[in-house]
Amino acid sequence: MSVNPRIQRLRELKAQAKLGGGPQRIEQQHAKGKLTARERLDLLLDKGSFRELDAFVVHRCHDFGLDKQRFLGDGVVTGYGTIDGRLVFTYADDFTVFGGSLSEAHAEKICKVMDLAMKNGAPLIGLSDSGGARIQEGVVSLAGYAEIFLRNTLASGVIPQISVIMGPCAGGAVYSPALMDFIIMVKGTSYMFVTGPEVVKAVTHEEVSFEELGGAHVHASTSGVAHFIADSEQDAIFLLQKLLSFLPQNNLEDPPYIPPADDPLRMDEELNDIIPEEPNRAYDMKEIIRRVVDDGYLLEVQEYFAQNIIIGFARLGGHVVGIVAQQPTVLAGVLDINASVKAARFVRFCDCFNIPIVTFEDVPGFMPGIAQEHGGIIRHGAKLLYAYAEATVPKLTVIVRKSYGGAYCVMSPKALRGDINLAWPTAEIAVMGPEAAVNIVFKREIAAAEDPEAERARLVAKYRERFANPYVAAARGYLDDVIEPKETRPRLINALEMLQNKRDSNPPKKHGNIPL
Ligand code: HXC
Repeated sequence: MSVNPRIQRLRELKAQAKLGGGPQRIEQQHAKGKLTARERLDLLLDKGSFRELDAFVVHRCHDFGLDKQRFLGDGVVTGYGTIDGRLVFTYADDFTVFGGSLSEAHAEKICKVMDLAMKNGAPLIGLSDSGGARIQEGVVSLAGYAEIFLRNTLASGVIPQISVIMGPCAGGAVYSPALMDFIIMVKGTSYMFVTGPEVVKAVTHEEVSFEELGGAHVHASTSGVAHFIADSEQDAIFLLQKLLSFLPQNNLEDPPYIPPADDPLRMDEELNDIIPEEPNRAYDMKEIIRRVVDDGYLLEVQEYFAQNIIIGFARLGGHVVGIVAQQPTVLAGVLDINASVKAARFVRFCDCFNIPIVTFEDVPGFMPGIAQEHGGIIRHGAKLLYAYAEATVPKLTVIVRKSYGGAYCVMSPKALRGDINLAWPTAEIAVMGPEAAVNIVFKREIAAAEDPEAERARLVAKYRERFANPYVAAARGYLDDVIEPKETRPRLINALEMLQNKRDSNPPKKHGNIPL
């Protein structure tokens, strides 16, 4: 039986749209070790759930002979589907069409899914592989970017926005991912920079490769731009799916609860001896976190950047929590500029999306030094202070060892509306460490002593006994309890459940003025 010619035409057009820039360009894409936009969406979404929008859209540019080159979809595949049965809106740049560059029409397609994501309260996922603004379209393309940036900003704190960089992301194009909540980069095939190696060479005479300037490793470890890096595109999509499993659909929902396989009442005897006797000996805070959270699983965010602080998602008794913790094995867990900024943004993300924050604290203070002071540790440290202070989600803190000076004030103390503040018996809460304190307060006594070193040691021991313990703070109610370390998991889960219906708010205002 012959097919109705109109149906036939529709089928042909849809088949044509699926080919993007054509079989040869698809082959070139594969030869670079990259998947096509549609192959990526197949991996990302539940089988058969993708509904494409705007497959018939083409560009409107008549300059530079572009009117003779029109491709259905115009370099971006957009639509919606589900991941693990949950709705998401998505777009994937199609590098086979004008290098995935952004035209007016391309931008309109992205804006449409962004608007839908906002109206329907579902995450937005962008898969980037683009040469940036479509050069032939000029300002129209730039305006298209600005439309996207506006929507990224308006959606911030309303729906989770996640960007996966799977190819080039250059020029102003980097700012849409940068405005989103999380960036995942693929090692070897993705790069991000505002100006590429050629421009860098012309302006600063520095010679640098694409990879060295803006590859996944650089952004994961040095710039802090990327939150996750993946070995392959498949791995990147797997990571994204894992990340989504911790996130609510929008700011009005709670994050997904999963009945725990791990016993909420489980105690861990080994925690009782995990803190070394010597106060300056390092230990791995990740070991403590693993022993406390469900199934020992922490999805670490920015794992390779500012490693003196650990941030990530975990579950406690099935409830999603955001973990913030010092890492004593790196710079003794000190708070420096990068650690402050890293943790501040994470705390604010958790607060936007109703994710309780659990802080494990062992902090000797803020990082001293000219570089830190001149780099603005004052304003950067203030970001973390601000973030903890304004957060209204449940805030639980466990001081496991040091909590010194300004860092005590920052890391979610009672006075910043900490809900439940616990300490281990190994906690030391004081204005500064014993040695430094004794040297200042008893300078004259030490100098006048017959044996200054013995006198210093005696005073340090006295100071330690008086201040370097949790009981002074507990006597004031700054701590709700001092607990045996082995009880940490059941105590935190119990606190989370007590706080399930917590209501708190900030004064009405347009928005605050976080020290940027
Ligand atoms: C139009 C573009 C394009 C662009 C690539 N193409 N980028 N067309 N506008 N921005 C086209 C190429 O002409 C080519 O078409 C095809 O896409 C594939 O590109 P290749 O160069 O062959 O691929 P490759 O060797 O992999 O190199 C990829 C690339 C390179 C590194 C991305 O194409 C490149 O440098 N593009 C320009 C990047 C850039 O500077 N963009 C503007 C940034 S400024 P044919 O038909 O020849 O195969 C910006 C401002 C945004 O984005 C401002 C927002 C505020």
